[in-house]
Amino acid sequence: MGQRSFEWQERFCREQRPEPCRIVIFGASGDLAKRKLFPSLAALDARGLLAPTSRITGCARHPYTTDSFRRHLADCFPAPLPADGDIFFRRTGYMPLGYDCPDDYRQLAGELQRQGDGTPVIFYLALPSHLYPVVVNRLAAAGLLTETPSGGPRRVVFEKPFGHDPASAAALDAALRQHLGEHQIYRIDHYLGKETVQNIFLLRFANRIFEPIWNASQVDSIQITVAEQLGVEQRAGYFDQAGLLRDMFQNHMLEMLSLVTMECPYTFSADAVRDEKIKLIRSIRPIAFTDTVRAQYDGYTSEPGVAPDSRTETYAALKLYIDNWRWQGVPVYLRAGKKLGIRRTELDIIFKPVPHSVFPGIPQTALQPDILHLHVQPEEGIGLTLQAKKAGPKLCMGALTLNYDYRESGGESLDAYARLLLDCQLGDQTLFIRSDVIAAAWQLYQPLLDHWAADTATPIPRYPQRSDGPPEAHQLLARDDREWTDDLAVPL
Ligand code: BG6
Repeated sequence: MGQRSFEWQERFCREQRPEPCRIVIFGASGDLAKRKLFPSLAALDARGLLAPTSRITGCARHPYTTDSFRRHLADCFPAPLPADGDIFFRRTGYMPLGYDCPDDYRQLAGELQRQGDGTPVIFYLALPSHLYPVVVNRLAAAGLLTETPSGGPRRVVFEKPFGHDPASAAALDAALRQHLGEHQIYRIDHYLGKETVQNIFLLRFANRIFEPIWNASQVDSIQITVAEQLGVEQRAGYFDQAGLLRDMFQNHMLEMLSLVTMECPYTFSADAVRDEKIKLIRSIRPIAFTDTVRAQYDGYTSEPGVAPDSRTETYAALKLYIDNWRWQGVPVYLRAGKKLGIRRTELDIIFKPVPHSVFPGIPQTALQPDILHLHVQPEEGIGLTLQAKKAGPKLCMGALTLNYDYRESGGESLDAYARLLLDCQLGDQTLFIRSDVIAAAWQLYQPLLDHWAADTATPIPRYPQRSDGPPEAHQLLARDDREWTDDLAVPL
């Protein structure tokens, strides 16, 4: 690397330190707060990415005191506490709060004022979405959402799911818009905080070699897989109502699909990136019902909290097409499921085969396609499967996969939530979802959700736990003379 480029990179890479801010976590006694949000804030603190005078206030209905809340939080850190764990706890307080109780919000306003005016305030709503309008109305009534030059910015972070269908998402949006501008609304999709998901953008737009082959003339098909070993765990109440399509496809998978297929934005800024995403999502052809598969793992209906006659899908696979110049005719296959044999999130770009085989005795159809693998988790890296000669006197061919582990590039990666909490402090919305993207995502999937809901007669295919998923998902590709790049069953 030239000296100039090196110096420039050094400047670009330096982590931007946020100014002091006041962070309020609603739902502070809940699982997400304990498992992800507080540990992420502590990790930011340990890296100097939480200003020393920033304050964190947990709010929930539970009658903790600040002391008992700190003890509750201490459980979420590996024992012994990190060396600076104490410092983090000292800046963390707790206030019991009824989500619809005006007096409690007045007290919160008093508390935030005591913490010092003029710095940004971030309200993180780790709550079920039906409480979003309630909390936002109360915050507004207490004057806590009003931005003034002397009071600092006010930002509100919303967890997914954002609505249940197009109508509820639009109603929710309208309710929030009464009190918040889009620049104040941070809709989270934690997949966008994952280093490797951000790397899709870098791979495509910080390198030149991929662009000429990133299109329908070179790419045969694209596959995106999100396989989980976990089942519904403690979240049956939510999941049994939602199902896998709402839980994974409408958000995480569509975000990854957008990153891998969208056009290059004119600059890396929140609106420029999100403008390209929305164009991409709007160009997806309505999904043919015959190109979809839903299934449920064996034993799902015996999980605590799941209806015994539930038809909720815990697995889905589908094929879609993007109607634009770049991707015309290239099928994109998506699959995601719970209780599969392995945990793997991966995007595969499968290239077209060579047009003709020059190798005597080896037909063109026997030559395997090149595949670019973008590994998101648990491996974090990039792989390229090519044809190569096997060692020996004969001309034997075999697949060779070059693998690169992103962790080798150095640097300590931030957990997805830490990354997003940092961006929120910095007021950077690039990795957050804009309302038009949410609306377009619902529009895309709602016809399928309606179709599945209306079809109560067709039995839902089952698949064994720890397996590769239902055979129907293989048939979806076999029909097109293709196959999934990976087997998701527990390796023997
Ligand atoms: C969440 C879904 O958004 O993502 C869960 O609601 C899913 O059902 C989870 O398990 C997967 O996230 P990760 O980071 O473990 O891949």
